[in-house]
Amino acid sequence: MRKKIVAGNWKMNLTLDEGHQLVAGIVKNLPELNSDRQVVIAPPFINIQHTFYQVEDTPNIFIGAQNCHSEDEGAYTGEISAAMLKNAGAEYVIIGHSERREYFNETDALLAKKTDRALDNGLKVIFCCGESLDVRDAGTQNEFVEAQLKAGLFHLHKHQLVNVVIAYEPIWAIGTGRTASAQQAQDMHAHIRKVVAEQYGQAPADNMTILYGGSCKPSNAAELFACADVDGGLIGGASLKAADFTGIIDAMIKA
Ligand code: PGA
Repeated sequence: MRKKIVAGNWKMNLTLDEGHQLVAGIVKNLPELNSDRQVVIAPPFINIQHTFYQVEDTPNIFIGAQNCHSEDEGAYTGEISAAMLKNAGAEYVIIGHSERREYFNETDALLAKKTDRALDNGLKVIFCCGESLDVRDAGTQNEFVEAQLKAGLFHLHKHQLVNVVIAYEPIWAIGTGRTASAQQAQDMHAHIRKVVAEQYGQAPADNMTILYGGSCKPSNAAELFACADVDGGLIGGASLKAADFTGIIDAMIKA
């Protein structure tokens, strides 16, 4: 059964106190979620355990991390392992966000290793892909995203896919206020599902949750989530305000 998910990626925003206030506001107004509708909150590492305790009694709301290291443990000063995240209460980890790829030079090969570490340690992966404006203008976005998925994800075995969510985030739409149109999102999501089907078969592709990310907000969420292959959103800026995030969750529930 394909799940619908709204995931909030706080990025490097909010102190522990500010995060506490935000989560209190979200939980207070959260409509009841069935098990096929989930909310994920991905705060900075330092908030994970606290945020987990805030939501642990609320069904179908989970904690995500924004990154993890590619090794299980060892002398990697300043890094955080997948096992630590799981133990602190995380259920999901975002892998391959375009900001990690760009500012931290994370390559496809590294992202493939991170995906393995996350899954090995019982985390579910939200694997991000998406093209730059140059690629979109050249009209080669389908090939570009397909190559990212092949290099970062398609070494997995079919049975592992139940623990993977794909997030399509066109870089030109992230934090820019310029959202992909519903048609652009649908076209790419359908392409991603087709590529997954070619690699793994139709059933895993049909069950795959594919999120859209990039300037998603309450005013455009309903239109995006109404697309046949858009199963929710990965939300940056609008996940930092309880009213906005709750508005997007409402759109997902009604979709
Ligand atoms: P945005 O970010 O919603 O602020 O555009 C989305 C993301 O980077 O996940």
